[in-house]
Amino acid sequence: MVYAEQDRITPLKNEHRSISRQLDVVRGEMTASPPSDQLQRSIDRLGSLVETHFTGEEESLYKPLKLRLGRDNPVDAMTQEHRTIRRAIRELHSSFTRCKADSSRAGELRSCFDSVQRELGEHIEREESVLFWLADLKL
Ligand SMILES: [Fe+2]
Ligand SMILES: [Fe+2]
Repeated sequence: MVYAEQDRITPLKNEHRSISRQLDVVRGEMTASPPSDQLQRSIDRLGSLVETHFTGEEESLYKPLKLRLGRDNPVDAMTQEHRTIRRAIRELHSSFTRCKADSSRAGELRSCFDSVQRELGEHIEREESVLFWLADLKL
């Protein structure tokens, strides 16, 4: 679907909803011990939803907003959050592999997932309350 230039926010919000739903799916599958193949597929799906979203968002929103706002902009901090979340998701993947080999590491897997969920939740919240509003105003 092609969105009007001024409506670059709607598809990003829809992707936020998909990411939140996928976080719930992963959380629901986290209880199986040893961790299931289904959980692995759900974590992979979460990773690819987030990567697609971040890449598109950086291109369609962060880049033009940064050009528009110049040096004093909130985009650099948000880009740094993308880096932190990408790292947390990589850590979630490797923690899954360790937990698959040794199910006594389930607590570690859970805490990796908690970090991903918390960081993503806070990031999305900041975008929807501050950055999207700023984009509506300035772009
Ligand atoms: Fe973002
Ligand atoms: Fe986003």
